Amino acid sequence: MQPDEFRRHAHEMVDWIADYLEHADRYPVCSRSKPGDLLATLPASAPEDGEPMAAIWADFERDVMPGITHWNHPRFFAYFPANNSGPSILGEMLSAGLGVNGMLWQTSPAATELEQRMMSWLGQLVGLPDGFHGVIHDTASTATFCALVCARERATGFAANREGLGTATGGRALRVYASREAHSSVLKGARLAGFGAEHVVPVGIDAERRLDPADLERLIAADLAAGHLPCAVVATVGTTGCTAIDPLAAIGPIARRHGLWLHVDAALAGTAAILPEMRWILDGIGHADSLVFNPHKWMLVNFDCSAFYVRDPDHLQQAMAIHPEYLRTTRDAEVVNYMDWGVQLGRRFRALKLWFVLRNYGARELRAIIGSHLEAARAFAGWIDEAPGWERLAPVPLNTVCFRWLPAGVTGTDALNGRNLDLMARVNQDGVIYLTHTKLDDVVTLRLAVGQRATTLEHVRQAWEALQDTARAIA
Ligand SMILES: Cc1ncc(COP(=O)(O)O)c(C=O)c1O
Repeated sequence: MQPDEFRRHAHEMVDWIADYLEHADRYPVCSRSKPGDLLATLPASAPEDGEPMAAIWADFERDVMPGITHWNHPRFFAYFPANNSGPSILGEMLSAGLGVNGMLWQTSPAATELEQRMMSWLGQLVGLPDGFHGVIHDTASTATFCALVCARERATGFAANREGLGTATGGRALRVYASREAHSSVLKGARLAGFGAEHVVPVGIDAERRLDPADLERLIAADLAAGHLPCAVVATVGTTGCTAIDPLAAIGPIARRHGLWLHVDAALAGTAAILPEMRWILDGIGHADSLVFNPHKWMLVNFDCSAFYVRDPDHLQQAMAIHPEYLRTTRDAEVVNYMDWGVQLGRRFRALKLWFVLRNYGARELRAIIGSHLEAARAFAGWIDEAPGWERLAPVPLNTVCFRWLPAGVTGTDALNGRNLDLMARVNQDGVIYLTHTKLDDVVTLRLAVGQRATTLEHVRQAWEALQDTARAIA
């Protein structure tokens, strides 16, 4: 592709993206593709000769677009958000244009230093106390995995890295504690870090589904009595099911007393702490050894961008770093080489999009947007509370409302579960909104998570109308 062709296609594509963002609401939110739809259109092998962009673009619009679920649609209420924004897309584009690999300071000093400063800005914005050091990872899952590796290495004096887990613990099992509402990435991270799924200990929860510190204490005591090695506790600030907020201030002293690594998973919720009135969600964060939250979920930064903070970067580096000759530079003693702060060697220049977003919006506007999402979620919760035939199933400390439909004459958990799954399938199929479910205990629970850049109270009202209309149609 010659420079002038590139320029032309890029301009066209930016126009297309701008139109898309402006009119994302003309698409059904969730793709209606059936399994294999796109595969059936794609040739089995790559072309031998290059094809014109016009042909590729036509195929994109005809074949690929129908298979897109529109995460940045203003009526996307599923899972947790993964939102984006103009400045973020521009930062992403520039990062692709530069094609930088920020594995070492020397491989692009600006990539490392911008990342250092962005992590510091972000830490201040969410009110982290001094002493935390940040790095951008791809996802919260990776960050939690790294935290568990750090915990393992601290518990074994780095012997697990050296000798392998078999001998490092003298045959004793390292134990990880997390509430049974914790995200599946904790179990995955513990499995991959060699703890073994059986050694992830589910901690009891209270009526609001927050980790119960008394149960944690009890489980640690039982494990010590059984000859196990308590190693780490993962607290969740904003659980995926219903955004419960584990009490860090109570968990921290327990972790400290028993020498446990305290990792805080605030994947979604961390962003809310940019609002002074929401800072309480991180009360007690000073006890933590590590924290992760995702600007790519709720801070208008394109996927992927996950902020991982540790108290002791030397410890993280000792757990992660390997220095073959070909990666050594003359500056290593003076600079940060982020390849030593995680799993990856090669690293994308993610700080650029974060910088664009934080500067172009500014903290005030970001707070206003997050605040409007919180308000819209509270309004939806109020409508559910007031409407006969609907039930709210959890408190709403953040942007997510858990609820279910109670159709007249239908009783029993199984029957209600079936009706609610049916309602969700129907309303999603209509394309006006997209929402997903979880189970709280045995109860199928619909979740409405507000968090897209362009979502307003009016969109949330449309969601409520769509749910009521569909319920009426089914009834
Ligand atoms: C609480 C929590 N932790 C971790 C994750 C995983 O996030 P990621 O996709 O960045 O790995 C999620 C995803 O929604 C989450 O809700």
